[in-house]
Amino acid sequence: MSKSTKPSTPALTAPPVLRMPLHVAVIMDGNGRWAKSRGLPRIAGHRRGVEAVRDLVAACGEKGIRYLTLFAFSSENWRRPETEVRLLLELFGMALDKEVKKLHANNIRFRVIGDVSAFGAKLVERIRQGEALTRDNTALTLTVAANYGGRWDIAQACRELARCAAAGALDPGSITAESLEPFLSMAKMPEPDLFIRTGGEQRVSNFLLWQLAYTEFYFTPALWPDFDRGQFEAALASYAGRQRRFGHTGDQIEAAASGSTGKRA
Ligand code: IPE
Ligand code: IPE
Ligand code: MG
Repeated sequence: MSKSTKPSTPALTAPPVLRMPLHVAVIMDGNGRWAKSRGLPRIAGHRRGVEAVRDLVAACGEKGIRYLTLFAFSSENWRRPETEVRLLLELFGMALDKEVKKLHANNIRFRVIGDVSAFGAKLVERIRQGEALTRDNTALTLTVAANYGGRWDIAQACRELARCAAAGALDPGSITAESLEPFLSMAKMPEPDLFIRTGGEQRVSNFLLWQLAYTEFYFTPALWPDFDRGQFEAALASYAGRQRRFGHTGDQIEAAASGSTGKRA
């Protein structure tokens, strides 16, 4: 029987649960509907969406949240009309130019995950420059998922693992879930504690499939450009009121929180 399903583990293996999430991951959805309801072109919604990103980054900094991961463009978003895709990429480039220096001034580490090679050499260079400039910053790690898909991420990690096995550096029979983790895009980062999706849809849309295994989900009908501090506070309050059990019983979690051994089954 594998370790994760062993029935009588005496020690509590759940990570300590903090009332404030360490890592927040967001699907910023609803820009198009926000614009449409105002009779504006969809790109106007995306532009307002960038402002909402700026506010959320500032709020996370103030609250001491250490990791913020934002879904900006999915591997499926290429299916959109060509003009929207082109304008989105232009906006991404402009936001990079405008914001990276500010992120650096605020001690924020900036990273992009996803298959960015599809964006063209110029944009890739600007992304890598931003990452290099901010790599040693320590206040908040801001990860933007662009041309990202959870299935792509798992597949590319498997590819790397297979290469190691083919080179004789790894025995395929010894592969566990942990073997894959160093090759995933979010390697070395804690898994998201809180996942927020705006725009009313209640789905994951191929975001961080692997990493969301034990994340708390929060869905709001608010459209992304309308997601303000009040909305963020509501998401944090919802998170703070939850009991994360990671497979244990509620009694075990309570006992551990009050300092006992957590042996009660
Ligand atoms: C999210 O907003 C932004 C991206 C996917 C780039 P949408 O553009 O999906 O907005 P809706 O869902 O059409 O309203
Ligand atoms: C998810 O939103 C991707 C991003 C926010 C970047 P979509 O609007 O693309 O998701 P679906 O198509 O409604 O599932
Ligand atoms: Mg959408």
